[in-house]
Amino acid sequence: MRTEQAVTVARGDYLPYPYAIPSIALEFDLDPARTRVLSRLSIERQPGVPADTPLALKGEDLALVSVAVDGSPIAEGGYTISDGVLRLTGLPAACEVEIVSDCRPAENSTLMGLYVSGASLFTQCEAEGFRRITWFADRPDVMSRYRVTLRGTRADYPLLLSNGNLVDAGDLPDGRHQAVWEDPHPKPCYLFALVAGNLTCRELRTRTRSGRDVLLQVYSDPGSESQTEWALASLERSLRWDEDRFGLELDLDRFMVVAARDFNMGAMENKGLNIFNAAYVLADPDTATDANYLAIEAVIGHEYFHNWTGNRVTCRDWFQLSLKEGLTVFRDQEFTADMMARGQDAAAAASARAVKRIDDVATLRAAQFPEDAGPMAHPIRPESYQEIGNFYTATVYEKGAEVIRMQHTLLGEAGFRAGMDEYFRRHDGQAVTCDDFVDAMESVYRDLHPGRDLSVFRRWYQQAGTPRVSVTLDHDAAAQRCTVTLSQRNPAVGVEKQDASAQEKPPLHIPFALGLLDPQGRALPLTLDGKTQETVLLELTTASAQWTFENIPAQPIPSLLRDFSAPVIVDYPWTDAALALLSAHDGNPFARWEAGQELATRQILANAARHQAGEPLAADPTLVDAWRATLRDPKLDAAYRARALMLPSEKTLAERMQPIDPPALAAARDFLRAELGRQLAQDWRAAYQDNQTEGAFSPAPGPAGRRALKNLSLAYLMAGDAAANQALAETQYRGAANMTDRMGALSALVNEGSGDAVGQAIADFHTRWQHDPLVIDKWFALQATARGTDVAAARALMAHPAFTLRNPNRARALVFQFCLNNARGLHAADGAGYDFWAEQVLALDALNPEVAARLARAMDNWARYAPALRTGMQAALGRVRAHAGLSRNVAEIVAKALDI
Ligand code: TRP
Ligand code: ZN
Repeated sequence: MRTEQAVTVARGDYLPYPYAIPSIALEFDLDPARTRVLSRLSIERQPGVPADTPLALKGEDLALVSVAVDGSPIAEGGYTISDGVLRLTGLPAACEVEIVSDCRPAENSTLMGLYVSGASLFTQCEAEGFRRITWFADRPDVMSRYRVTLRGTRADYPLLLSNGNLVDAGDLPDGRHQAVWEDPHPKPCYLFALVAGNLTCRELRTRTRSGRDVLLQVYSDPGSESQTEWALASLERSLRWDEDRFGLELDLDRFMVVAARDFNMGAMENKGLNIFNAAYVLADPDTATDANYLAIEAVIGHEYFHNWTGNRVTCRDWFQLSLKEGLTVFRDQEFTADMMARGQDAAAAASARAVKRIDDVATLRAAQFPEDAGPMAHPIRPESYQEIGNFYTATVYEKGAEVIRMQHTLLGEAGFRAGMDEYFRRHDGQAVTCDDFVDAMESVYRDLHPGRDLSVFRRWYQQAGTPRVSVTLDHDAAAQRCTVTLSQRNPAVGVEKQDASAQEKPPLHIPFALGLLDPQGRALPLTLDGKTQETVLLELTTASAQWTFENIPAQPIPSLLRDFSAPVIVDYPWTDAALALLSAHDGNPFARWEAGQELATRQILANAARHQAGEPLAADPTLVDAWRATLRDPKLDAAYRARALMLPSEKTLAERMQPIDPPALAAARDFLRAELGRQLAQDWRAAYQDNQTEGAFSPAPGPAGRRALKNLSLAYLMAGDAAANQALAETQYRGAANMTDRMGALSALVNEGSGDAVGQAIADFHTRWQHDPLVIDKWFALQATARGTDVAAARALMAHPAFTLRNPNRARALVFQFCLNNARGLHAADGAGYDFWAEQVLALDALNPEVAARLARAMDNWARYAPALRTGMQAALGRVRAHAGLSRNVAEIVAKALDI
């Protein structure tokens, strides 16, 4: 293999496809060794296109068998194939092109196109996998009606599924049978799917709100039928929610979800035939944690919601990816928040929604902020790419969702809904751009706010990097007036730094939610635009702006960026006392959490500096008191307290340290955890006792929140005094009635415990669950991230017979967890972690470039690390780059990392 040519695709180069392909008939003779695909395309040259314009179809890893036009075979000289493009010239303005080709599913370790997982066949076409199945115009703006005939042996493939409706089925000679599927909705080829195998099914029938009966189905491996109840119930909840909140109804008679054991990502929204990573389908109390249940509901929702945001209205080109992903993540976040808040009074609902917001913001800060500060920084609508597979990023997804959320904030719930209605009214059935979406929202915004528009707001789609907003407060005691000044900075990041003219980018439209508290922690009423509220929304659209509030007798304490109203970093000269006051009193539960996190962050950073200087570490009483107050506050529910009492993650902390020194950060964080564990031991023990969940297991927010607080208490107790609390962990491990409690106990034992009991628990867990791959993934992941796991221990785990790099979930559980979530192990002083990383990237790249490229990103931010680490990281990147035969995917990542 040779390194593939790096070709950069630019957003500005978009040209419409010269031909329409209104329909496609596909026939598959399914065989894992060699599958023959017959494709019959109806072709229509677009008006105004010159007659000699070739029809260019993409293909990859295909063996071409024959080409015919209107039934006449084309001789080999009648077409050309070069660089993966099949070109046909001299076609009539309208014709039928028939192409026969072969592919080899069993040899396809990339898991793109048609591949084998277990005993079944699956497809994955987004973004550019359809070209691995047949020659086609593999781009999202070419939309066709599909008729799909699947043929295979009944013994191996009793089930033959594709998109849409089953229109015919029957036996064939030699033990074979066939099924014919028709999808009534024109779609881009990235939404094509087929599944063939022997799977079991759980189903239900329900009626849509306009009164149509629909069939919902969840398919999975035989033997896992008891694990699909939650997924199916989540699917029905998703259907109801999209009707209630957005007025969007299922447009199919049948909606199928299929679980695959080998899958590159989370799941895929193929029209009517979603294919899922089994990790986001299968759950029962013995094998799935509360976090798993939550993730399944969210991903089921996400893929279901794509049926409108992505499928009915799709992307014109892949630069518009955030059009569907940012919007659909926003929708799944709101779905989860609504499910969590369901049936609760106003205060409890606000707390539940805050819990979801906290989780999402924590993810954004841990995954997207570093991306936006590194060599892969890109706007949510990228300007260029080499490999589109590398742009399914936290920026496109999670920051993209924040950009949608800001539009929701600016328009309000009713205005946003009106904008969505307008978007579907204008674009149903089309392939469109991010600008088209903002245009629809802007039409509503202009009505709501005459004279204003979203022109400054649109820069969020254009500019990379996390803006910084600094805040100053000027209080005039005599006038009882407080002036708030917001100033924003948008410095160049990543590749932008190479352009000397772009050191500072223009200001963005930032919705900034603010509250003010009096010195006793009471909310001050604030008047803005004639309305008086406890939270005001300041719209910062220039570099700097001021707002003045009256009737503020004493210097207030600001509550900033409530609910994280924009994806920015706030700079404000906090005192620890102000943070402690907010952490005890802020009426906005999100901002209250934030204050505690900021207090802890300052303490950890101060201790990291002490650690580097060889000075003794110290826990400030302000923090301990704040943690005690939160732990004891009876008005806070358990789920919220579990978040508020968790220390910021090492990844979030790293964004605040320059240069980054992970071992120092880990030492400082561990120290504080141990101090909090020790000094608040009595309170943790009380929380542990008070938050037991008796009776039948339920993943509902109430009991899940109690388990979270209980297991957090156990972790703190063990961190504070392992010897005194190990028996508690051992007892919990043995008596656990669900996976959340079992994992909580095992994690405490593996990370803090000592003696034979630790090894025994690890062995016991393996023995109990060796038949369940998803649980064994948890077993690998827990050990890969454990405090004591160094490179040698990671290698020893890889030698386990259950380990394989070929299964992405397994590779992620061990190799990715070690490289991305075990900073101490990866950054070992002798550089062994970096060698390990380079070796695994290359090994994976030979099998699965999409997955390898994600591992490659572990070194993205090498230039920001402490000098002793930086050189080792850079050298490891250099070794990967020098490797012959690198995939386009990995080549793009390492080149960008090294070229900053
Ligand atoms: N569109 C899918 C989603 O967001 C994810 C996806 C994109 C994907 N490319 C993929 C999944 C490749 C698996 C493999 O839901
Ligand atoms: Zn998606």
